[in-house]
Amino acid sequence: MCGIVGYVGARQATPILVGGLRKLEYRGYDSAGVSVWSEGQSRVVRCRGKLAALEDKLVKEPAPGTIGIGHTRWATHGRPSDENAHPHKVGAISVIHNGIIENHLALRQELAASGSKFTSETDTEIFAHLIDRAVRGGAPDLTTAVRQALAKVHGAYAFVVMNDKDPSTLVAAKNASPMVVGLGDGENFIASDVTAILSETRRILFIDEGEMVTVTRDAVVITDFDGKPRTREPKVITWSAMQAEKGGYKHFMLKEIHEQPRAVADTLVGRVDLERDDVVLDDVKIDATKVKRIIFVACGTSYHASLVGEFMIEALARIPVEVELASEFRYRDPIVGPGDLVVAVSQSGETADTMAAVREAKGKGAQVLAISNVLESSIPRLADWAFYTHAGPEIGVASTKAFTTQLVSMALFAIYLGRRTGKLAAPRARELLAELLQLPTKMKDVIDHGAQLQVLARRYGNAHGFLFLGRGAQYPIALEGALKLKEISYIHAEGYAAGEMKHGPIALIDEHLPVVVLVPRGPNYEKAISNLSEVKARSGKILAIATRGDTDIGSTADEVVLVPDCPVELQPILTVLPLQLLSYYVADFKGTDIDQPRNLAKSVTVE
Ligand code: M6R
Repeated sequence: MCGIVGYVGARQATPILVGGLRKLEYRGYDSAGVSVWSEGQSRVVRCRGKLAALEDKLVKEPAPGTIGIGHTRWATHGRPSDENAHPHKVGAISVIHNGIIENHLALRQELAASGSKFTSETDTEIFAHLIDRAVRGGAPDLTTAVRQALAKVHGAYAFVVMNDKDPSTLVAAKNASPMVVGLGDGENFIASDVTAILSETRRILFIDEGEMVTVTRDAVVITDFDGKPRTREPKVITWSAMQAEKGGYKHFMLKEIHEQPRAVADTLVGRVDLERDDVVLDDVKIDATKVKRIIFVACGTSYHASLVGEFMIEALARIPVEVELASEFRYRDPIVGPGDLVVAVSQSGETADTMAAVREAKGKGAQVLAISNVLESSIPRLADWAFYTHAGPEIGVASTKAFTTQLVSMALFAIYLGRRTGKLAAPRARELLAELLQLPTKMKDVIDHGAQLQVLARRYGNAHGFLFLGRGAQYPIALEGALKLKEISYIHAEGYAAGEMKHGPIALIDEHLPVVVLVPRGPNYEKAISNLSEVKARSGKILAIATRGDTDIGSTADEVVLVPDCPVELQPILTVLPLQLLSYYVADFKGTDIDQPRNLAKSVTVE
């Protein structure tokens, strides 16, 4: 997964490309580069490292010109290095690429055998060679040359190509990697997503699978890979550019943690009907009475949200639910088909594993609902229906506001189903809906007490490992707490179902191991307290997340963090907040790169 930007117009391209890449660094930050045309040829400036390294290099090696392409890389084929950084240039052809050319080995051998010399280890360079050959072989224009090259590659890609011999045109192609075109006046833009060009234009064309785009200053022509024209109306994006900025916080992650009450309120807007004790989902035309089984497919944090969704839907709608890791689902010939509703959960809407699972399910006749945060992203577009969370752009690699808005969406969906299956009575639905509307205030209350987590982070931040325990719907929250801590602080952490602890992980417990136990009031409370006592008896350090008003817990736990009371189905939306803050402050204490942790990228668009 990588970020791509292209510009053609009358202004200097480099600042626009670099500005766009800054917004796309969440997609990868192993290397960055630009290719900008002026005075007869394009100049490629690229280097290993984050965008800042490229910016330094551009001071010494400026790249003037009014047409160009830019790239920020997350390495797939070839280690992060200057040579493997994009753009790749062969002859007069510069190429940037997000994705993977799956038949790259065969193509490389074929090209090498007939004389091509390679200067990088990347699959992308192969594509530049193919276009160069097509141009030299007499293709009448760049679009035709790209089309001829596309016929030879298969895999996932969003390419943008520039030709020194035709410096008025960019040609792009998309298959399974995201791409948008931004429309300006006398200028046009290409990018991996809207945030990259939002400061330049709000008029956006979303490019579909199997489409090519030829972009000049004054025109954008979309065709399929056979050259058949495709028409499209631009969409006007209403996000404010400020929504994608840090807004005074030290990190995007902290800003996004604080944005959660607003994000949850936005996700609820227009969906709660208190007069009918119901949920309004106008775009989702599912006949709940015909759904025999629901299968969630998701990865990472979205998988954890799905586990909570299982709990909510089974409790409120009494429909059987299974939750699958998307990366495993398609590789075991899953038993899925008509009568099944597959719910694909993905913040980005671009996760390759989840997309592959959706294709598998659709191919076998299941209906698919996507729960996503990114309008018009690939997974919702592939699905039969989309339910959008309204978290706004999430930039920090560690998912926070996307998670809580996913949980709220799960709750809405569970109530919606429960009302239609007849398993959820109106008074209980009314109570839950009223409680959902209270959540933003309660969430703000928890976040406003964040200083306590900062103190705990300093007290326990030097530990070599953490254990997170929870029961019922708190078990996925234990998994999520462990994932958050691992990914941004690099401390090993495990999430465990509290009742399973005695079957193994109890061996880990000693006075050096902090154990975070989720014990809100509810049906599992007494059992969870017993698990907590088992930790205490072995001298483990207990950090309990409990319900405000619980005066007993302090006698067992070393530290107690209290959250407001709410119905058991909604508790995960509150109990996860202290865990997000704990991870954030531990990582900040350790001084790690919180928004861009090592080896990770925000959107995982390779399988
Ligand atoms: O965009 P998605 O929700 O499909 O992403 C899935 C995971 O890659 C993502 O949740 C990842 O685990 C996050 N870094 C967790 O914070």
